[in-house]
Amino acid sequence: MIYLNGSFIPIEDARISVLDRGFIFGDGVYEVVPVYSRRLFRLTEHLHRLQDSLDGIRLRNPHSDIEWRGLLEQIIASNESDDQYLYLHITRGVAPRDHAFPGDAMPTVFIMSAPLLVSPKELLATGVSAITANDNRWLRCDIKATSLLPNVLLRQMAVDAGAVETLLLREGFLTEGSTSNIFVVKDKMLLAPPKSYLMLPGITYDVVLELAVAHDIPHEVREVSEYEIRTAQELLLTSSTKEIMPITRLDGKLVGSGKPGTIFTQLYQLYQNYKATVMRGNIVV
Ligand code: PDD
Repeated sequence: MIYLNGSFIPIEDARISVLDRGFIFGDGVYEVVPVYSRRLFRLTEHLHRLQDSLDGIRLRNPHSDIEWRGLLEQIIASNESDDQYLYLHITRGVAPRDHAFPGDAMPTVFIMSAPLLVSPKELLATGVSAITANDNRWLRCDIKATSLLPNVLLRQMAVDAGAVETLLLREGFLTEGSTSNIFVVKDKMLLAPPKSYLMLPGITYDVVLELAVAHDIPHEVREVSEYEIRTAQELLLTSSTKEIMPITRLDGKLVGSGKPGTIFTQLYQLYQNYKATVMRGNIVV
């Protein structure tokens, strides 16, 4: 079951106009919210980022946070898996094709659910491969926009190379991955690129930094150079759907020892513990 503009319907019955500005211009924003044991994970933070994205494209939020929660909970209840990820998508609506904003269009609101699959143990034990590429996206990568063509092409580069992710470099510095944030371990220090217009402020990124603070893992939020990623002991990727994963090969070369490192192992365990606490309902999220 999905939600589309006021109705809960099977996905096969969902229809939108070909004049929807999401279809014509990619004129919309989205969120991906993980659900564990039917509980929304970090919803407040996701809705906050959604508001920032809507402000970034000057589109009014069609729902209050309470309304969003209600809609999302109905979608969770009407889908099978206990662990799901919810995809929320808002476009500037249907209007005759003109780049400028329409005067009176109603935003299109779409929510769907998919099963949230945990990363296979074997993959966590070996780590994944990544490649690097020039970050050729626009200068507002903090907006979670549905116009994802650069990300699509950059992620396909990874797939074509038999890798899982493409690490993006802008003027010699790491921004993020094509679909994830990236952390670097250098000289036992966990390094995170600072939030800016050049990367998506990841919700999982925030969780990892909070865990680092709470558990005294030495860390710094600062620019990370290409040299540092190429000589790192560990590289980690984070996202709502992949949680935390170790990158053990970069552009065909081993990262550190070529095995997931100690900081990954520690953070992965802390993340699982944190999730378990949230699922037991001991933390309000
Ligand atoms: N993507 N950076 C980019 C470019 C992303 O697309 C994502 C997530 C992240 C990680 O953000 P978060 O931790 O809040 O999921 C960083 C989602 C999962 C997607 O597009 O499917």
